[in-house]
Amino acid sequence: MNNLFERHKKIYKYYGKKFDNNTKHSFTSIFINTNLIKEQDLIKQLKDNKADIKQYFYNSAIVKANFSLASTPQYLSGLYYIQELSSQLCSRALLKPTKDSITILDMCASPGGKTINLSVIAPNAKITAIEKFKTRLPALYTNLNRMLVNNVDVQVIDAVEATGKYDFILLDAPCSGNFMNEKQWYNKRKLNDFNNRQKLQKELLLTAHKVMKKDSILVYSTCSLEPEENEEVIDFALEHFEILDIKDKVVLENSYPAMTDFEEKKYNPKVKKARRILHNNKFTPFFIAKLRKL
Ligand SMILES: C[S@@+](CC[C@H](N)C(=O)[O-])C[C@H]1O[C@@H](n2cnc3c(N)ncnc32)[C@H](O)[C@@H]1O
Repeated sequence: MNNLFERHKKIYKYYGKKFDNNTKHSFTSIFINTNLIKEQDLIKQLKDNKADIKQYFYNSAIVKANFSLASTPQYLSGLYYIQELSSQLCSRALLKPTKDSITILDMCASPGGKTINLSVIAPNAKITAIEKFKTRLPALYTNLNRMLVNNVDVQVIDAVEATGKYDFILLDAPCSGNFMNEKQWYNKRKLNDFNNRQKLQKELLLTAHKVMKKDSILVYSTCSLEPEENEEVIDFALEHFEILDIKDKVVLENSYPAMTDFEEKKYNPKVKKARRILHNNKFTPFFIAKLRKL
């Protein structure tokens, strides 16, 4: 193992935890499309198919099945989306379920998991979903079409060129990923990759600032463990944004305050309002910060 493994041990030590990179999840988590079916009805249908399923939190269930959950009639008709629990927390941090006709910008959308979350919890919202790379579009369109999402307009542009004015923004930033989502992660990444990613992440945050209405809210998230892509980005953002407490109970119960220092670096103490999800037998690593435009 390389020095990145050692730094991950340090991050978990900060929280008084032992780092274990062999954690495997023994279930599949799904996001239920409550625009199309009641949670309990879907749960019953999958139970009738002999799946072991239980609701985990609102719109969400964990399933063990001896068949492919990506080929059931319920999956193919858009009644659920297969998605890590951690990913499902981002939209919850951004806004409560609402019937209001708000505007939402999803700056980095493909394959569309969080766009779908937003579309379901805010069915009357007008959602703009940006994706820069054409190769990433088939997955995005397939998922949005399958889930019968009808309030999303896809724009194929670089998000740094986003225009308009929005009430809510999700910046699920391109990041260097993590060892649970990518095989051989430790052999593929170097420290310098994180600084390169950080440049784009800061640029995207500054663009977001320009297209936010006064007082509007942004959630910045990554699935990276690296402080360069998380705490350091938020430390920078505090020149332009106020950081807010995340109030959602499920997010709070499954996460920890972000770090205020790492190795020789110290961050603005307010950064600890952001939340780190440390991986365990249910969750994959994630970082979520909620910001209001100053
Ligand atoms: C972390 S993934 C997003 C995952 C997605 N939010 C979801 O929940 O399914 C980041 C996405 O941003 C896209 N991306 C990278 N740079 C971008 C840019 N400058 N503008 C817009 N999209 C970009 C990547 O192609 C990738 O699809």
